[in-house]
Amino acid sequence: RKPPSRKGSMADVPKDLFAQIQRLEELFFVPGQKLKEITAHFKDELVKGLSKEGGSIPMNPTWCMGFPTGNETGTYLALDMGGTNLRVCEILLPEEKGEFDIIQSKYRMPEELKSGTADELWAYVADCLQQFIEYHHEGEDLDHLPLGFTFSYPATQEYIDHGILQTWTKGFDISGVEGKDIVPPFQAALAERGLPIKLSALINDTTGTLIASAYTDPEMKIGCIFGTGCNAAYMEDCGSIPKLEHMNLDPSLLMAINCEWGAFDNERVILPRTQYDIIIDKESPRPGQQIFEKMVAGLYLGEIFRLVLLDLHENPDVCIFENIDVSKLKKPYTLDSSFLSAIEEDPFENLTEVEELFQKTLSIDTTKPERELVRRLAELIGTRAARLSSCGVAAICLKKGYKSCHVGADGSVFNKYPHFKARGAQALREILDWPKEVRKDPVDIRAAEDGSGVGAALIAALTLKRVQEGQV
Ligand code: GLC
Repeated sequence: RKPPSRKGSMADVPKDLFAQIQRLEELFFVPGQKLKEITAHFKDELVKGLSKEGGSIPMNPTWCMGFPTGNETGTYLALDMGGTNLRVCEILLPEEKGEFDIIQSKYRMPEELKSGTADELWAYVADCLQQFIEYHHEGEDLDHLPLGFTFSYPATQEYIDHGILQTWTKGFDISGVEGKDIVPPFQAALAERGLPIKLSALINDTTGTLIASAYTDPEMKIGCIFGTGCNAAYMEDCGSIPKLEHMNLDPSLLMAINCEWGAFDNERVILPRTQYDIIIDKESPRPGQQIFEKMVAGLYLGEIFRLVLLDLHENPDVCIFENIDVSKLKKPYTLDSSFLSAIEEDPFENLTEVEELFQKTLSIDTTKPERELVRRLAELIGTRAARLSSCGVAAICLKKGYKSCHVGADGSVFNKYPHFKARGAQALREILDWPKEVRKDPVDIRAAEDGSGVGAALIAALTLKRVQEGQV
């Protein structure tokens, strides 16, 4: 089954471009049947990841034990080290159930930092925290404020306040951090600055999203990020985590699992990868890793688009951007997913906004048929990302036997990419085969609460409570 094209829009597209559009549709459209096969394999991989032998998906135990009750109280700091920004928050959880107050500052993560040294990274992070504390608490005598640190990369945790970085993802490539506990150098940087802060919990953004959303909605079962990276967390019974058997945990206890599903299909057996996906992987700092993420996450969507356009331009049988200087298009990662969003959002019949975007960003003058092609290409890439992402959500639902639940989602792609939600929901319907008469989708992916702020604070609160009560 082919995705529907916009009515009449292809009428004036020359034959060679039309043939290319058809080829791209075949290349990028993933039919419902294939989504089902991917989901079935995904579910098996989730189970494998929990086993002692392990599989391609890390399925990291987080030591975040169970859902919040809504009665958590106190003041907490939260630090969110995402792919693009660094955010520092102070969160007050008052007596009123499910309420919170938040103040925050955002700092840019300088591009150079992403491939710099560990010392530079921790110094920058600690400086931002220091600035925040000095601004909001000047001269106050603070007594070791508890901090929830959202570190959104795969980490092996034996305790909630430690984590060994397994591998950098999302294009980060800072030397001397992988394979090591990130907490000691982070705390050393805080100590050097005399900051009265105690790291209570190291968390992933997906776990934060799950907990923050469950704080206000008891039907929340899965937390997802569809942003620069793509990943999910859900609550597992300790009895279903064979790799933790040696810890003799009560099998009925709940623990959040950070799936790190970006690594799905690292063994490359099921995803319908195109030549463009293969190039992205090869040219990335960590080839062979995050194979799923490289097809669906915001960091890569613009790059897939760029590679296709360049390939068409260089193909002698296709006339696209003829006699035009495409040097700007030749620069890797010049286009981010907001470029694709803007293309998809152009409301004009003549695609005048696309025309402007190409002129301004790439210095490329486009013809109307070329704009029709790039619009269709953006739709195809965005649709593929949404449909494949839904396989992960469906796989968790199948693994856990959830017939209906809410899924809390955050991230720039989920919040800003046009039609992402609707396309993802459509894919879920195709995968999970809900009867036609069901009027409301039983598995509902909806906007989450702030996981890296409120979620991190809640997890810090839950952790401190467990410590006080002498539990694991
Ligand atoms: C990458 C990270 C993961 C994070 C996700 C979303 O996949 O490895 O930890 O949750 O991006 O930010």
